[in-house]
Amino acid sequence: MADKSNSNLDSVGFDTLAVRAGYLQSSFQENSEALFLTSSFTYKNAAEAARRFANEEPGFIYSRFTNPTVTMFQDRLAALEGTEACIATSTGMAAISSAVMGLLKQGDHIVSSQSVFGTVMPLLNQICKRFGIDTTWVDPTDLDAWRAAIRPTTRMLFCETPSNPLAEICDIAALAKIAKQVGAWLAVDNCLLTPALQRPCEFGADLVIHSATKYIDGQGRVLAGAVCGRKELIDQVYGFVRTAGPAISPFNAWVCLKGLETLKLRMEAQSRSAMALAQWLQAQPSIAKVHYAGLATHPQHVLAMRQAPLQGAVLSFEVKGGRAEAWQVIDAIKMISITANLGDTKTTITHPATTTHARISQAERDAARIGENLLRVAVGLENIEDLQRDLLRGL
Ligand SMILES: Cc1ncc(COP(=O)(O)O)c(C=O)c1O
Repeated sequence: MADKSNSNLDSVGFDTLAVRAGYLQSSFQENSEALFLTSSFTYKNAAEAARRFANEEPGFIYSRFTNPTVTMFQDRLAALEGTEACIATSTGMAAISSAVMGLLKQGDHIVSSQSVFGTVMPLLNQICKRFGIDTTWVDPTDLDAWRAAIRPTTRMLFCETPSNPLAEICDIAALAKIAKQVGAWLAVDNCLLTPALQRPCEFGADLVIHSATKYIDGQGRVLAGAVCGRKELIDQVYGFVRTAGPAISPFNAWVCLKGLETLKLRMEAQSRSAMALAQWLQAQPSIAKVHYAGLATHPQHVLAMRQAPLQGAVLSFEVKGGRAEAWQVIDAIKMISITANLGDTKTTITHPATTTHARISQAERDAARIGENLLRVAVGLENIEDLQRDLLRGL
């Protein structure tokens, strides 16, 4: 069993936490965090097993409940988000569904930004609805719309900021205030900026949700998710994960744990390239509009910069024309990866209307402003000139 941890981390900086927080060392005294690839743990005798199951002594039981590698990942991510606790899950969607199913009940109501990852819509509109949880969708930038959507049964406000793919910004502090006034929790999907650039709980959010599949892994290898927040809330989400089973595999947790060590370096480098690419795209004659909150022309630029010093690596742009012109850009690509994933060191490009947002209705796509001429690029670590040359082929 892991028996030694880094306890001297009071008041150290983010970079130090990223490589040392949560570290547990086994009796082998390894320096790099170990991968405990085991589904279960053994006991010295029957009485020890009984004590562990009765929660009378600490210790690991079974990897659906807890695992040392998973614990390291959770504790490190919680330290970086500045929250008391974190529970890891198998995917980002598992993190969102576990937060909802762990904290809400039949008759409860959610107010959600309509600019969220496409799959959140069928999750809330179809699956959660069947369990008696209703959702109202609002424009993420319109605080009056959030206020107007509140019902006596509202228990959760949910948003993603910046949003994917349109880089719309939610005012986290203002939403936290609205949530508090009505006794609801604010949950923020922090997938696009990560704690390296934005820590929603510092602005009053109650829960931070991650698809760790994206920048936390950072190299497109594994699926993973996490929910961070106060211990009393995370304990309830943990209760759902432990029982319903969307637990993370120790291997995926280990990949993400090591990903956290380079997260800030990658986020800063990829954000700078995204900013340079956004400025360059704005100057291209075949492009009608670029969506990136780092641009001074973005309508919420000031708010965005108040919440994060850099605006991440995801940008989108509208070509002049429609689907044919957008697909022409993708089809002329020779290097950039044509894939709907984001958060990789390799730059990716996708047509949201026919990929990430294909499963929602045309009306929902229109409300979310996902047009046929929209393309999304998630900038990786390649040379910016190489990305420009590749995009120019079809522009
Ligand atoms: C912002 C955001 N949240 C959540 C998810 C869902 O994550 P996962 O694919 O790990 O389930 C995604 C996936 O692309 C995403 O972009």
